[in-house]
Amino acid sequence: MRVGDGVTLDVTSMAHGGEAVARHDGQVVFVRGALPGETVVAEITSAPAHGRFLRARTVDVVTPSPDRVSPPCEYSGVCGGCDWQHVTLPAQRRFKADIIADVLTRIGGEPAGRWSQLTVDAVPGDDDGLGWRTRMRYATDPSGRAGLRAHHAHDIVALDRCLIASPSIGGPDVLAQSWLGVEEVLAVQPDGGPVVLPDPAPGDARVTQHAAGRAWHFDATAFWQVHPGAADSLASAVRQLLAPRAGEHLVDLYAGVGLFAGACLGELGPGGRIDTVESDETAVRGARRSLHDESNVHIHHDRVDRWLSQGRLRRCDIVVLDPPRTGAGREVMDRITRLGPRAIAYVACDPASLARDIAYARAQGWHLTQLRAFDLFPMTHHVECVALVEPRDSLPA
Ligand SMILES: C[S@@+](CC[C@H](N)C(=O)[O-])C[C@H]1O[C@@H](n2cnc3c(N)ncnc32)[C@H](O)[C@@H]1O
Repeated sequence: MRVGDGVTLDVTSMAHGGEAVARHDGQVVFVRGALPGETVVAEITSAPAHGRFLRARTVDVVTPSPDRVSPPCEYSGVCGGCDWQHVTLPAQRRFKADIIADVLTRIGGEPAGRWSQLTVDAVPGDDDGLGWRTRMRYATDPSGRAGLRAHHAHDIVALDRCLIASPSIGGPDVLAQSWLGVEEVLAVQPDGGPVVLPDPAPGDARVTQHAAGRAWHFDATAFWQVHPGAADSLASAVRQLLAPRAGEHLVDLYAGVGLFAGACLGELGPGGRIDTVESDETAVRGARRSLHDESNVHIHHDRVDRWLSQGRLRRCDIVVLDPPRTGAGREVMDRITRLGPRAIAYVACDPASLARDIAYARAQGWHLTQLRAFDLFPMTHHVECVALVEPRDSLPA
């Protein structure tokens, strides 16, 4: 098959990455815009020389799935911001659960079927999967229109509105303006009014968010969860899974402004200790600003791998880590397990990276014991997991 060829495909499943999976003459084809159970006519968009798989896009749906809907957004299929606008919300969550279970088996080495009953939970405030993004980074086109990049391309799709964005930052207030001479527009909707920053730089604006029973004050460019229901849902999942005890020592890795540290402070009490590690200076400033009156929180501005390799910490009781999409990697996972905590809560925005890191932990005698999943990114294939990893000797015989 060559790029541009047409092919009729029977679609079998959804793949990590959001494309559907079909086979043509035994070769795997990843098909954008198709759903399991459908027969579609697709156009080949990529035929890599290694020949292991092809990529295609759906041109016509011959037999539609009952999970298919008409996309609410007029830019669906063109704009790279969402890839599952054509899927009902319950089916999106079902597919996400299937993908997590699949990568945990294939990459993470979990027994087949162990996570087949996993559900992906909606977070509070989500009815229809729209209007949730409180943080948008728009690119601008040569005429000064703001928009998002096309799927797997550098072209910018200028937008009149973005349906997944919070209405204050996904409509004319931002998108009807001319941004001539500006490369990027950061629009955020924190507690209080929206903040819109052309070519943002640290120090341009400070925002406040409330989560885990605290107020967080940080620079608009620092990391904060984009779904308004995310920070509280993840904080309470971490707290519930780790069950921090009074006087324990918690290490919060990839800590951002310290959300999980703040969430666990109450249970740890005055005799507890928390070390947070974060490499982004702006986020570290936010953590210092938000947690400055907590004398048992020690905030470290460093890379996690470097901080752990310094060996300044020998033991701790519990760990939470929330790495970027690439995951933590073998060395970091090995060093965490060597600290001998009784439990590790792993917050993951990429289930494949989570699965890989769990496999590293398993090689050290650790075990995935509990798993929660949250639909923090409706209309896209993205999903968030919170996993509890414990030493094997903590399991019942
Ligand atoms: C997914 S965010 C999590 C932030 C925080 N836990 C929260 O929920 O708000 C990942 C964070 O890790 C930081 N980061 C990325 N690579 C890092 C590294 N190698 N060492 C330390 N922090 C890192 C990023 O700056 C970002 O703040």
